[in-house]
Amino acid sequence: MSGDLESLKQEAADRALELVRPGMVVGLGTGSTARYFVEGLGRRVREGLQISAVATSRATAELAASLRIVTTEDVENIDLAVDGADEIDPALNLIKGRGGAMAREKLVASAARRFVVVADETKLVDQLGRSSLPVEVIPFLWRLTARRLSALGATGELRGDRAHPFVTDNGNLVLDLTFPGPMVDPRGVGEAIKATLGVVEHGVFAGLASACIVAGHDGVRVLGSLE
Ligand code: A5P
Repeated sequence: MSGDLESLKQEAADRALELVRPGMVVGLGTGSTARYFVEGLGRRVREGLQISAVATSRATAELAASLRIVTTEDVENIDLAVDGADEIDPALNLIKGRGGAMAREKLVASAARRFVVVADETKLVDQLGRSSLPVEVIPFLWRLTARRLSALGATGELRGDRAHPFVTDNGNLVLDLTFPGPMVDPRGVGEAIKATLGVVEHGVFAGLASACIVAGHDGVRVLGSLE
């Protein structure tokens, strides 16, 4: 099954590669599905394609550099951003951040004229909230931030262990929030979390994706618009 899943991720990434045109500024996502896209882009760059790119994490920036893809942090607009997701609902709202890169991922997605998600079909859900919601918080008084977030009805768990917590590329911590049931109002949940002091960013991506390319055993489907 896992080999199978890898080929589905590859298929979704290959479809997204067709959207890349010379001269574009391309946002490069983080995670195992986005990795296939970056590797494919690297192959096209080796064949002569000229683009510039913005990486959503240090790991992706390093991968891009190893493939001779030029990355920059000095742009305001991105033509096309391609990234994975942990959950995708029918309205194309997402949960992201299992890799802890959601702050940069959201900045890139929001700067992109087209934000295209690549995923295998296991990521499709009827309602968000199947798994936990990652929230990046500043380390200072993080327990207080966790307590404030629990007032929203969620249980927060520090990612990693207390002695060796997971640290994001921005030097912050991640709390994985579990809600008692599915997320009925993802946008509202996201806004309430974002309004909590100490929170840097969270993994609800509501209304950001233009399209999702979803690879399944019956082929590749496009949800939303690739235009
Ligand atoms: C990284 O922080 C995440 O948002 C990933 O994009 C997300 O977890 C999807 O990753 P996979 O493609 O590895 O499932």
